[in-house]
Amino acid sequence: MTHASPLPDGLPGHPHIARHGDTLMIEALPAAELAQRFGTPLYVYSRAGIEGAAQAYADAARGRPVQLRYAVKANSSLGVLQLLARQGWGFDVVSAGELARVLAAGGDAAQVVFSGVGKTDAEIAAALRAGVQCLNVESLSELERIDRVAAQLGTPAPVSLRINPDVDPRTHPYISTGLRSNKFGIPQAQARQAYARCAALPHLRVRGIDVHIGSQITQLGPYLDALDRVLDLVHDIERDGIALHHLDLGGGLGIRYADETPPTPAQWLDALHARLQARGQGHRQVLLEPGRSVVGNAGVLLCRVVTLKDTLERHFAVVDAAMNDLMRPALYEAWMAIEPAQARDGRHARSYDVVGPVCESGDWLGRQRLLDLREDDVLAVLSAGAYGMAMASNYNTRPRAAEVLVDGAQVHLLRERESIDDLLRGEQRLTL
Ligand code: LLP
Repeated sequence: MTHASPLPDGLPGHPHIARHGDTLMIEALPAAELAQRFGTPLYVYSRAGIEGAAQAYADAARGRPVQLRYAVKANSSLGVLQLLARQGWGFDVVSAGELARVLAAGGDAAQVVFSGVGKTDAEIAAALRAGVQCLNVESLSELERIDRVAAQLGTPAPVSLRINPDVDPRTHPYISTGLRSNKFGIPQAQARQAYARCAALPHLRVRGIDVHIGSQITQLGPYLDALDRVLDLVHDIERDGIALHHLDLGGGLGIRYADETPPTPAQWLDALHARLQARGQGHRQVLLEPGRSVVGNAGVLLCRVVTLKDTLERHFAVVDAAMNDLMRPALYEAWMAIEPAQARDGRHARSYDVVGPVCESGDWLGRQRLLDLREDDVLAVLSAGAYGMAMASNYNTRPRAAEVLVDGAQVHLLRERESIDDLLRGEQRLTL
């Protein structure tokens, strides 16, 4: 048996999504059967995959003062949030919409941190009314805004200041956030002044300090550099008489898409804890905001081959999923594994560009992939559980995909496929 591309057997990070003989299985269900039953494009998540990744964090946190806050932006489906809320996770949100999702999924507002570089008055008010753990503040001007909204509501606002540590996370430039050229955070040099202003504003209550340097980080060094900068500031700020209850060290831990070897949650937490202890800070409450590493490897996007097309230069496999369903390849040139749901014998394998039907040459899911394909075959894009559906759009008036959760041999529909009527809803025909 020849596999078109040999990835998933034993691929770390995919214990619940693997090939059994020629058949790609999501837990106990064949991917091709799911595609048949629910249609394509289809996002499929493994419950054991998500819960296993969450448990790895919980195990690493046990016995340490660590609070886990899942970054909702990675995958914000209610069913996914419910799984994490039931395991006692808190959440990191960046909009009133994400906050509403967390509350609808049964999340505890007191364990929610609200991040983001441009919170509106309405979002700040929603966060304060819900009773969030804190707002992660990104600028001096935002401090004034939060104080004003808190005064109007008559509620004190818990805040933590996000510092830009000017550390290179060594990842894709679009997902680096802790460099001084990025829009995020308060420059280190302004941090003491910002905390002094916080202490002076009557409606703010300082809770902590926050840093997030980027995403798909595969080395520990940048985290430790950022932690060192935070600890230097903690020392200075507390010497100025302002107590900090927690250190929020953000998210960003990478996953394996191809041959990356990111640290495990345990290695990440061990390294952070060792550095904290070395600096006499082992007692500090630490918050973490992982997103991708909780859900990324637990999901796939299933699609069907519509057309096989040869040009003078290339073989194209045009599938029914596109950049609007999964934006990562088009936006970051991200490499994501593509596997047939049912492997063929490989005799007709050739190098395909797997593309969607959207009218852009940037609309591709994978380039130069060795695959043995026929029209109507089902393909799975692996590691699509994070920043897949969450970034989907309706470009080309394409309804967004359905999402299902597999639990052993059972399957639960998390979100029905959008209809074209859904897309037209809210539009008004001209009457002039
Ligand atoms: N906390 C904050 C403040 C963040 O901005 C992010 C991600 C996270 C936590 C979670 O990071 P994670 O653990 O998921 O790496 N769409 C891109 C990734 C954008 C990440 C944005 N911020 C992608 O598909 O690669």
